[in-house]
Amino acid sequence: MTNKYQKPTGSYISFMSNKVKTYGGINLAQGIPGFQPPAKLIEILQEVSRENIHQYPAGNGNLKLQQLIQQHYAQYLSLDLKDIMVTQGATEALSLLYTYFTGKFGKDFSALAFSPVYESYKHLPRIFNTGFSEFQLENNEIDFDKLKQTIVQDNVKVVFISSPGNPYGKMFTKPELDTLLKLAEELDFYILFDAVYKELYFEEAPYQPLESLNPRLFYINSFSKMLSVTGWRIGYFFAHPEHMEAIKSIHDYTGLCASSVMQEAIAEYLVQHNYGANYIENLRERLKKNFAYFREELLKLDFYIPETHGGYFVWTRLPEQFNDGFKFAIDLYEQEKVAVIPGEHFSAHAQNYIRLNIAREDEEINEGIKHIQRFVKR
Ligand SMILES: Cc1ncc(COP(=O)(O)O)c(C=O)c1O
Repeated sequence: MTNKYQKPTGSYISFMSNKVKTYGGINLAQGIPGFQPPAKLIEILQEVSRENIHQYPAGNGNLKLQQLIQQHYAQYLSLDLKDIMVTQGATEALSLLYTYFTGKFGKDFSALAFSPVYESYKHLPRIFNTGFSEFQLENNEIDFDKLKQTIVQDNVKVVFISSPGNPYGKMFTKPELDTLLKLAEELDFYILFDAVYKELYFEEAPYQPLESLNPRLFYINSFSKMLSVTGWRIGYFFAHPEHMEAIKSIHDYTGLCASSVMQEAIAEYLVQHNYGANYIENLRERLKKNFAYFREELLKLDFYIPETHGGYFVWTRLPEQFNDGFKFAIDLYEQEKVAVIPGEHFSAHAQNYIRLNIAREDEEINEGIKHIQRFVKR
């Protein structure tokens, strides 16, 4: 007989959401939005798909889309179009930049990310055979002395930051980011700042470290979550000009370009709809409401939730009677058909945590909570 607690060798996210895809249930596991993209965006997609835009677009991106990105960030800094590159989602930007770093530093360096860690941040170092350090926060804050020590000891050249984060929706403050940028200069490392949840905050907008285009910072963002189009694969990054020529020469042989049709549709939609302001506002409110609801109900069941500022997820410690997030996830699915992700997928220190996706329709959220309540009380 197979052991139902046998751990998967690959991604826990695929493992848990495949259960729902095969046997049904409520998928609070994968970071897929349960919401539709803006209806106008779909209409525009149909219109632009009839145009003559089906061949390779410019490698750096659709000019109109690049200009919109440039205008959007003009509130922070002045960007040259040459320094903005549209990519196949933030995922391609991350792997392209990691490829660039391995060319620059060889194999003999480490990347660092704050615990709990988003998947790509630890798997890129694994794939490229470089080191990886997971750095624990203390009461959700950075101990900078310890961080400095780790960076020097482990020869860290790349620090990943997502703000708000995944799985834990911490937002990094201006003092934290200012200090990190100063340290980057002092200790010779680079920061990959991942802003894919930038618009999805619960109270105040996250601080963006963009007072100038710092050569130590690579800024990554995506339309995946902002417009609920994770399947379209359109993201972008910008960086200081000193890096761009070398990155472009890699990109020509790796990603080459992002989808011409999807870029055109997004650009046209952003022009016509004030960079998606209404859609984003609505999405933000829904996520905020879902988070507050989950929080209230989970706290009643004695879950612990660290202070969370935004993003797509509830990152939560199980009530005391449960000490194994993996077993919890398997039993919850078996008994109640609700899929969640065990915390150990994101950190070896999060054995008794789970992650839940809150970007789902009300009905699924309500059902999900009811089932979790029944399971925990049983
Ligand atoms: C922190 C973070 N970065 C990057 C991505 C990937 O985004 P994209 O769909 O643009 O590749 C995700 C997706 O869940 C994410 O959570």
